[in-house]
Amino acid sequence: MFLRKAIAILFGASTGVVLGASPAALLQNAQGPTAKQLSLVKAKLKETATHSWELGTETETYLEYDWAPTSVFGNNPIPPPHRLPSNQNLSNVFAITEQIMKLRAPDAETLFEDTAAGDPASLGVAVLLGNWTNANWSSYGDAATKQLNYLLYKAPRGSDGVISHRTEQVQLWSDSVYMVPPFLAYYAALQGNKTLLKESYTQIQLYRSHLRDPATGAWRHILEGSWNDPGLWSTGNGWAAMGMLRVYQTILNSKFSNEFSRERKDLITWSYDIVKAMVPYQQSNGTFLNYLAQPSSFAESSATALFAAVIYRLAAITPSAGVFLPYAEKARKLIARSISPDGYLLNVVNPNDFALRGDISPEGQAFVLMMEAARRDYLAD
Ligand SMILES: *[C@@H]1O[C@H](CO)[C@@H](O)[C@H](O)[C@H]1NC(C)=O
Ligand SMILES: *[C@@H]1O[C@H](CO)[C@@H](O)[C@H](O)[C@H]1NC(C)=O
Ligand SMILES: *[C@@H]1O[C@H](CO)[C@@H](O)[C@H](O)[C@H]1NC(C)=O
Ligand SMILES: *[C@@H]1O[C@H](CO)[C@@H](O)[C@H](O)[C@H]1NC(C)=O
Ligand SMILES: *[C@@H]1O[C@H](CO)[C@@H](O)[C@H](O)[C@H]1NC(C)=O
Repeated sequence: MFLRKAIAILFGASTGVVLGASPAALLQNAQGPTAKQLSLVKAKLKETATHSWELGTETETYLEYDWAPTSVFGNNPIPPPHRLPSNQNLSNVFAITEQIMKLRAPDAETLFEDTAAGDPASLGVAVLLGNWTNANWSSYGDAATKQLNYLLYKAPRGSDGVISHRTEQVQLWSDSVYMVPPFLAYYAALQGNKTLLKESYTQIQLYRSHLRDPATGAWRHILEGSWNDPGLWSTGNGWAAMGMLRVYQTILNSKFSNEFSRERKDLITWSYDIVKAMVPYQQSNGTFLNYLAQPSSFAESSATALFAAVIYRLAAITPSAGVFLPYAEKARKLIARSISPDGYLLNVVNPNDFALRGDISPEGQAFVLMMEAARRDYLAD
């Protein structure tokens, strides 16, 4: 009820078009970042990403933005051909994996040395693609398998089997849903391994059972372990919702899609629930605050961009999520005026300290491009 009314107001007032026009038609005229802004945003992403999860997110962003048919949001992308067509050479993705493989000790258990157990796995899909599509890169396959085995058999786990986001103790971060399950799912889909595919879903289910706040439906940021960040961290909600959609797409494009119809439905419902929980906290100018429900926290653009990206993807999957499109459009408008002349996303949380305002956010740079890729694909659908 609340949503319907809000949409009627938004569609009616801000566009002046008659109600009932299709969301896609309304989207055609909306204002967002210019091509020039986007190319600067992309250049700054490349320049600034250094941490494991930033590089992993960068690879996924390039897949979605530059190589859409090969990403899990493409049409029938699994398995990819062993020889990619020249217009799908994944050059900027493999530029990163080549660096990763050079830095990595041959016997390392993970793809990147890190105190996070989950973050290095964010590089896994790109490394698997390298192995699959380049006959000279069989070392990539070994590296991916070691990374998988680390997650399955070495990383700390809770008593219910939930895989810790940290190496030193069992601690659950909402971020992990973006880093780990999409890799498990992609590995499983390539290998035709049903048990592992199920595990990618189960990990999300477990994270949700720990982190979802029943009062709001939004997710808390960090629980379990020696310290917590129980606030409803905006970016973390976006990480979780987008991680679910990537796993959904991977399952959908695997040979087990039909057998996993309940799991697919859950993933969409859970992602939808996060968006629905976030919407009431969107500020009047379209931004989110760093913590959804803390009015004293600062305006935060990176989560705002990721929120929009999730909605465009979700609406392409399930028409009922079309009700959220006006909120995504409003977020996108805010993003368009939150980019500095040299291409930095402004008003961002410090990626190394989630409580503090920062100057530069590589993940925020990536979220802007994810938002654009998602919107483009929604309109093309
Ligand atoms: C990779 O593909 C892009 C886009 O199609 C093209 O501009 C570039 O030249 C290609 N690079 C290589 C090394 O083939
Ligand atoms: C690596 O690629 C080879 C050749 O396509 C494939 O047979 C193998 O299963 C791949 N390994 C992984 C871990 O995906
Ligand atoms: C693999 O390596 C060989 C020898 O270095 C080279 O000739 C060939 O072009 C490489 N193949 C690919 C797909 O990069
Ligand atoms: C599926 O993956 C799990 C985890 O790596 C492994 O233990 C199992 O043997 C695999 N199953 C098949 C059928 O390959
Ligand atoms: C949007 O509104 C918030 C307060 O809700 C404010 O802190 C922020 O600066 C505004 N952002 C822009 C770009 O105007």
